[in-house]
Amino acid sequence: MARDITLSVIKADVGGWVGHSAMHPDLEAAAREVLEGARARGLLIDYHVTHCGDDLELIMTHDRGVESPDVHGTAWEAFEKATEVARQLKLYGAGQDLLSDAFSGNVKGMGPGVAEMAFVERKSEAVIVFMGDKTSPGAWNLPLFKIFADPFNTAGLVISPTLHEGFRFEVHDVLKHKRITLSCPEEMYDLLMFLGAPARFNIKAVYSKATGEIAAVSSTERLSLMAGRYVGKDDPVCVVRCQSQFPAVGEVLEPFAFPHIVEGWMRGSHHGPLMPVSAREARPSRFDGPPRVVALGFQLADGRLIGPVDMFDDPSFDEARRQANLIAEYLRRHGPFEPHRLPLEEMEYTTMPELMGRLAERMEEMDGQRAAPSATVRQDEEMEVD
Ligand code: 13P
Ligand code: 13P
Ligand code: MG
Ligand code: MG
Repeated sequence: MARDITLSVIKADVGGWVGHSAMHPDLEAAAREVLEGARARGLLIDYHVTHCGDDLELIMTHDRGVESPDVHGTAWEAFEKATEVARQLKLYGAGQDLLSDAFSGNVKGMGPGVAEMAFVERKSEAVIVFMGDKTSPGAWNLPLFKIFADPFNTAGLVISPTLHEGFRFEVHDVLKHKRITLSCPEEMYDLLMFLGAPARFNIKAVYSKATGEIAAVSSTERLSLMAGRYVGKDDPVCVVRCQSQFPAVGEVLEPFAFPHIVEGWMRGSHHGPLMPVSAREARPSRFDGPPRVVALGFQLADGRLIGPVDMFDDPSFDEARRQANLIAEYLRRHGPFEPHRLPLEEMEYTTMPELMGRLAERMEEMDGQRAAPSATVRQDEEMEVD
């Protein structure tokens, strides 16, 4: 029987074990206890608690719709309980992503990342939950584009009548708090102009043009923008529905065979390859990375989460992991130089203002030479125009 289901994935870093590398099992146990209570009361239909690196991931099903204060409240309580344990164990950055003490009905803007969608459960509902660590929401731009708009990735866009019409992309300008929806294939080049700048433009959701249904949703919360300082990278999540009127499971996983370069890694301030790994291997260590992505697959049965299947726990992703290690090695050799280190305006923290202040007196004017406005400056100015 078709039923309205909400799938909510809410995550936060509430303390790392050791440093920012992994999750202590007691934190997951504390979160599970809270979610089990919510299931017993009938608020949640089902849940799965897991982690990617140092991020605690709550995968929950219910019928309350998106942004339910009760479901968000349960997630917040789970993060608070896990934070208490993290404090007792003196884990690193205990309570890192909980930016406020007072929960007020919605975790949005309070630190955690949220990806939620409500839909009528299909006869067979396959979903994949992607979870990243040591990276940022822009990491989903390239794979989501390939899944839903690139016929070289998704054969179904060409040969399946249900996919052939294409998909609509809701893109958020995370700096200006604006959004635009673009339709593929016809607006593909416009879309790519935005998606190619993942530090500023992120795909929030994707919709089927044939049925209007939601196909994918991601977390686009930016911790540093909310907190006004660096507290940790955003380590995003993304949910994708698969099969039938949506791309097949293998088409949804396929973009991750290419370990593309994302922002994050050490101190949130470096570029590195996104390495697809099993849940067991989501423990970033080298230079606090390289950035990781885990994919857990579920079939839904009246909201029950049948799974997970650990989708990247497969030798067919060994080559991507090997390439990611080669790219990591190559980038690491740049040390503090761009493009390994992020450009100045995108770094999560920097000693530059202090350095400029301290050295101001030694910074001399150069007579007779006026700097010409560079193309970059001109472009920045143009982008300011609304
Ligand atoms: P500290 O400066 O507290 O060591 O934090 C740095 C950090 O967490 C980067 O991984
Ligand atoms: P997280 O965002 O995973 O906490 O990592 C922070 C960091 O600075 C790693 O070097
Ligand atoms: Mg951390
Ligand atoms: Mg993390």
